[in-house]
Amino acid sequence: MNARPDFPFFSARQGTSLPVYLDNAATTQKPDCVLRAIEQFYKTTNANVHRGAHALSRAATDAHEEARATAATFLNAASTEEIIFTSGCTEAINLVAQTLTFAHSFQPGDEIIVSTDSHHSNIVPWQMLCERSGAVLRAVPLTAELQFDLAEYEKMLTERTRLVAVPVISNALGLRLPVEPIISRAHAVGARVLLDAAQAAAHEPLDVQALGCDFLAFSGHKIYAPTGTGVLWGRRELLDALPPWKGGGEMISSVTFARTTYNKLPFKYEAGTPNICGNIALAEALRYVLSLGFPAIRSHEQALTSRLCSGLARLPGVELLGGSDGHSSLVSIHLPDVHHYDLGTLLDQMSIAVRTGHHCCQPLMLSLGITGTTRYSVALYNSEEDIDRALTATERALAMLR
Ligand code: ALA
Repeated sequence: MNARPDFPFFSARQGTSLPVYLDNAATTQKPDCVLRAIEQFYKTTNANVHRGAHALSRAATDAHEEARATAATFLNAASTEEIIFTSGCTEAINLVAQTLTFAHSFQPGDEIIVSTDSHHSNIVPWQMLCERSGAVLRAVPLTAELQFDLAEYEKMLTERTRLVAVPVISNALGLRLPVEPIISRAHAVGARVLLDAAQAAAHEPLDVQALGCDFLAFSGHKIYAPTGTGVLWGRRELLDALPPWKGGGEMISSVTFARTTYNKLPFKYEAGTPNICGNIALAEALRYVLSLGFPAIRSHEQALTSRLCSGLARLPGVELLGGSDGHSSLVSIHLPDVHHYDLGTLLDQMSIAVRTGHHCCQPLMLSLGITGTTRYSVALYNSEEDIDRALTATERALAMLR
């Protein structure tokens, strides 16, 4: 795969040294088609949606609703009404957590289960729900190999479990969770399941009907779309039954000072002017990914990730969290004798961009007894040369730090 020419970021800074960009789990670069969609929208179609009688507003509305249809296709949703545009995965999870409380779905003693390797955005909204409702948050431990512990999970599931919320792929470890049995076992006790697909969306196909989950959320910016975009998919009967969360224009059917009635799906959850251009650009990014195809993307990224893992594993004193196999698009390393921040800083000076720290997974770091890791994450535009430059720089940096 040679997708780099599709990304102007890599050619626009000629004359200046461009870092090897291996911080794709934090955010991705944007392909030309996405940049052009943004420019085209503002040059030719800009108007508000669902509001004007004029042709421009109709064109903007059509483009925006086509974007929703693209997101539905991307997730194999049963209907476009199940696609809620959000500002990102974080907002999508907060939407579910808020509306579940407004619906008084949770009673004191009810339980919510997350995984220990959850991102803060899949922990804090549930803690806030627990504070409001008296529900209890429980975290499934990891095995010694840092895999989700299915046996412990099964023991934790009871008739008090109301919701299970887990990442598809851990953003800190790069390991895939066994979401299929997680979902079926949660459903067996009557619990709902939310999948945080922020780290997965750019790297593996997501079919909500085949997965059988109840909610799924992802961010646009990690899949080559602008920041401030994202999708919540929810099973239609659940979204229909839950109340709206933000009040304002668009989400209403009628308003009087005595009473307001609410719009139908999906608009019930989209108060105010949406991120029209961003959502259209998000659809362009999704179409771009679909046009390359997940089989080609996965085989390219898996080859790069394996090269990265085996190269890092050969360096003395480097511990790959979760072992050297089975990582999806990223790997985190820990060095008992070198602080992750020092390594990241030296790599930066050698023009290698990686992320250091807790990766918004402080409970995971606490459970591992470390303060953070150095994380290398790949995307479809990375090359073997990027990996080799990162490995050489890491070796040099470690020699300087020891
Ligand atoms: N959640 C993003 C990351 O993992 C920002 O870096």
